[in-house]
Amino acid sequence: MPRPKAFVTRVIPEAGIERLAGVFDVDVNRDDRQLGAAEIAQRAQGCQALVTLLTDRVDGNLLDLCPDVRIVANVAVGYDNVDVAAATARGVWIANTPGVLTETTADLAWALLMATARRLGEAERCVRAGKYHGWGILMLLGGDVHGKTLGLAGFGRIGQAVAKRARGFEMRVLYTDQQRAPEALERETNATFVDKATLLAESDFLSLHVPLLPQTRHWLGESELRAMKPTAYVINTSRGPVIDEAALAAALRSGWIAGAGLDVFEREPEVQPELLACENAVLLPHIGSASIETRDRMATIAADNCIAFVRGERPPTAVNEPVRARA
Ligand code: DGY
Repeated sequence: MPRPKAFVTRVIPEAGIERLAGVFDVDVNRDDRQLGAAEIAQRAQGCQALVTLLTDRVDGNLLDLCPDVRIVANVAVGYDNVDVAAATARGVWIANTPGVLTETTADLAWALLMATARRLGEAERCVRAGKYHGWGILMLLGGDVHGKTLGLAGFGRIGQAVAKRARGFEMRVLYTDQQRAPEALERETNATFVDKATLLAESDFLSLHVPLLPQTRHWLGESELRAMKPTAYVINTSRGPVIDEAALAAALRSGWIAGAGLDVFEREPEVQPELLACENAVLLPHIGSASIETRDRMATIAADNCIAFVRGERPPTAVNEPVRARA
């Protein structure tokens, strides 16, 4: 029996490649350059498995160009880069990497929250620029974190993990989501369900944890930003388009809110010049899940999904049910 083939569109941690290589003949785009659909299709000829990253656009066009592909394993929990309906209709499995990055992403959300409140980016730039000429009582004053109100938009795995961390800071925790969480979970996380208007009005820190869907695009726009406290901070580790960036830049410039910590942008890797000009924004290059251990686990889960598929099993973290096997 010939070994099945897999194409990995960019470099991923070796842990995942080694796992895949136990079962597949693996080709990896070692240049780590983002490939277009035609280039992916060319490299994926004869491949049953395609391992993608969130920078790849996986749509009906790409899948039509890759007729042998039966599973796309996206190395990310978010899969807004994938047209799942197109894959399902073509009999292609789509899998993501949930769970393993929850705590790491929650850690980063907290790091960003604290960096934003206490102006760590500005402070570091001051030292590196040789502008630290001595302690000053009014120098780089920020906002306190402890005892404040943390608002969570989205109360899935990552939102809950962020809520749990707030306990140590003795914060009041509010959340909003499509549905109220079970009471036991609310007790465990010390979180109170509120509507969006209350969340906006009462949060000192608003942290976004919703997936990017048509209904969450620009979830935070001008009217929402104007409804927040002028002392509040916005933290985004979910997806950039959840915020209307032009409105956010206006809010930061005009003082509708005090600051923002962003790990994601509306048009990555482009960052709006208006945001770059805002000293009250801490800007990170989408590193939410970027710990060595977590990235290894993400790559390994992607490999496990591909392996399960060739064994005739359901990929363990599939997000769809293909209507029929691909011919
Ligand atoms: C994801 O997994 O969706 C993150 O954005 C990257 O880890």
